[in-house]
Amino acid sequence: MSNWYNACNKTASLIRNTIPSQYHSRTFSGIIGDIKVLSSKKAQSLFNRKKGLGNQYAYLYLTQGIDYGRGYQACAVEALRDVLGHGLNKILSGNILDVGCSVGVTAGVLSFNQIVGFDLFPDLLKTAKLVDSINRTQNYYVAADMTHDWPFERVFDSVVCGMVCHHLKEQVDVITFFRNVNRVLYRGGSLIITLPAGSICTTVQLEHVMSAVENFGFKTDRKLSGLVRSTDDSRSLFWMFQIIAEKITDKTGNMFISSDFGFQQYRTPETREEKGDKARTTIKSVRCMKHNSFELIGIDEMHRLFREKNLVFPVLSACFFIP
Ligand SMILES: C[S@@+](CC[C@H](N)C(=O)[O-])C[C@H]1O[C@@H](n2cnc3c(N)ncnc32)[C@H](O)[C@@H]1O
Repeated sequence: MSNWYNACNKTASLIRNTIPSQYHSRTFSGIIGDIKVLSSKKAQSLFNRKKGLGNQYAYLYLTQGIDYGRGYQACAVEALRDVLGHGLNKILSGNILDVGCSVGVTAGVLSFNQIVGFDLFPDLLKTAKLVDSINRTQNYYVAADMTHDWPFERVFDSVVCGMVCHHLKEQVDVITFFRNVNRVLYRGGSLIITLPAGSICTTVQLEHVMSAVENFGFKTDRKLSGLVRSTDDSRSLFWMFQIIAEKITDKTGNMFISSDFGFQQYRTPETREEKGDKARTTIKSVRCMKHNSFELIGIDEMHRLFREKNLVFPVLSACFFIP
């Protein structure tokens, strides 16, 4: 087990005492749900007013989002590493920017040192620094809002956006986001996007997101972009989407976005209550698992396998569904 996972566990014990008791009952999905529905400004002001709530968020991140690689967020980075194999070193190299870095998940799981990460919530970044100090690594963290101009110039070789783009609520946010990705990257630099299960519903929607990325000066890699899923246990399925692209020009296209494009519209049509019920019933069986093998189904293969079908896979066997 990596030192970073141990450092996360130690950090969780340290920050536990700093959380006011009224926030102990706040759940991970509840806090993330609040962030998703609020504007960045309102989410920031919520965390400013409710001192200590940010530490509960960080604590839940460490114990449930990471949880020695069993948490969804850590598993997503392990899955990315697994499916990219040796190619990962080429795609994620040089000066790296981690957008929406939270407690430093990408750097931690991939054992990176000296990368730059930014996130909206300073409590997460403080926690990331604490984990780094225990792990004897030094990454650089900045508090910033991805829906405003990013506080960086063109200095990065790779930008990684792990599980963050679905937080972009308005079209104007999507435009600001991709313009900034283009602006901070060198030409030839890489962009890695992962999106969680349920954030988009169909293969065609993933194709639209890829076209949007292309409109902002990138060439997407169709072999490396698609659906990633675990292959090792039929009772507990991990799955997500990934897009890998290379910046080919500084020029960005016209406002690419048709009015029906948007992460808000693409989300699986499920109410928060339904999601909560599902999480409660599946959490025990899913969270005790650590996945060790993954497979990438490229976008062209996704078209062939799933056509217009909704991409909802409750168990591994559902992934083999041929319409
Ligand atoms: C699901 S987490 C993903 C964290 C991490 N990248 C990972 O791979 O596990 C989404 C992250 O985006 C951050 N976030 C949400 N809205 C943001 C915004 N407007 N600007 C910057 N970060 C934001 C959240 O605080 C959270 O840390």
